[in-house]
Amino acid sequence: VETERAVTDHLGVETLEIRKPDLIEMWQDFQISTMPDMISAMNLCHVVHALASTPLLARIRNGQNDSANGLFSGMDRAVSEQMLRYLVLRGVLEEWHGSYVLTRKGAMLTSEIALARLGFYVEAYGPVLRKIPDLMRGDAVYGVDVERDGGPLSRHSGTIFAKYYTPVVLAAMHAGNAKQILDLGCGSGRLLLDACLQDPDITGVGLDIAPDAIEFARELAREHGLEERLSFVVADAFDPAGWPDVCKQADLISAVGVLHEHLRDGQDAVVRILDAYATMLRGDRMMLIGEPEPHFDDKENDSDFLLVHMLTAQGLPAARDVWLDIFDRSRLTCRRILTRATAGPRTCFYELVAPR
Ligand SMILES: C[S@@+](CC[C@H](N)C(=O)[O-])C[C@H]1O[C@@H](n2cnc3c(N)ncnc32)[C@H](O)[C@@H]1O
Repeated sequence: VETERAVTDHLGVETLEIRKPDLIEMWQDFQISTMPDMISAMNLCHVVHALASTPLLARIRNGQNDSANGLFSGMDRAVSEQMLRYLVLRGVLEEWHGSYVLTRKGAMLTSEIALARLGFYVEAYGPVLRKIPDLMRGDAVYGVDVERDGGPLSRHSGTIFAKYYTPVVLAAMHAGNAKQILDLGCGSGRLLLDACLQDPDITGVGLDIAPDAIEFARELAREHGLEERLSFVVADAFDPAGWPDVCKQADLISAVGVLHEHLRDGQDAVVRILDAYATMLRGDRMMLIGEPEPHFDDKENDSDFLLVHMLTAQGLPAARDVWLDIFDRSRLTCRRILTRATAGPRTCFYELVAPR
């Protein structure tokens, strides 16, 4: 039943208030559903990502934080200013007489790790997420009409990896006395770079299927004066027959966050490729495989991580027992598992050795 009530304010204007229970209920349901929070989270993701992708974040951090000292130089001032206003409303920035500073929450949201995680979903997988209906209907096919963005994928994965796992992997390489490393799916090349910076006798080859990633890795190696010790090739990690000779000299092969892609072709295909790698290992013969370890729950973006894998025609990340079973069926033996129990993305490193 609809009811109404007329109220006259102090200026003498009459307001008619209408009340209809089923409409109230519908609106309350929408509020309770958490949809408003979901919309807010989505929009905040886009605007924080945009802030970090333009010079504005660096300028605000460096104190170049108002229009008088060039905050908006080279930018569309009207649009940029409105975005900053939105970020003030969302508690990311504080505005004080026209100058902007990050709040504590803003500093956390724009940390290196937070932005890498955000970039992974918004920038690298965003082109795919926007096409979900087309992919579901079959109007688009992943790999033909839609692709993730390989450059940002490698860059953002590299940032997270360097923070949490480089020391773990380098210690394993050191223990194995490896000097020539082949890194499959090397992405931005951070692992090889860090290995070379730590040990002057190490040389390496990075291989990745994404040309953008390889270009970025080459540039990084040049910046650090390591172009003599590191080379990078665009190739398919799962087609060793097509690799150039420079890839066939390694005494350690690493593959971090890449082997699960081959699960798309089934577990037997992974067993076969592991056997092929085993025949290429020299010296102490070690292979180091880093794989995300899904828990199939809704914590730490596990469900989101699964989502982007389900949409991109790659193999799904597999649990530890699945990998151990695959290794058992190959010529390689898993001698140790390394993992961080309490920090960083859920990942396991499997140390595999080949028969002598
Ligand atoms: C999740 S990223 C990991 C990058 C890097 N290993 C790291 O840990 O930061 C996966 C990488 O594997 C690469 N990749 C995917 N399929 C590949 C294939 N068939 N051959 C070579 N590289 C591949 C992607 O381009 C991407 O750089």
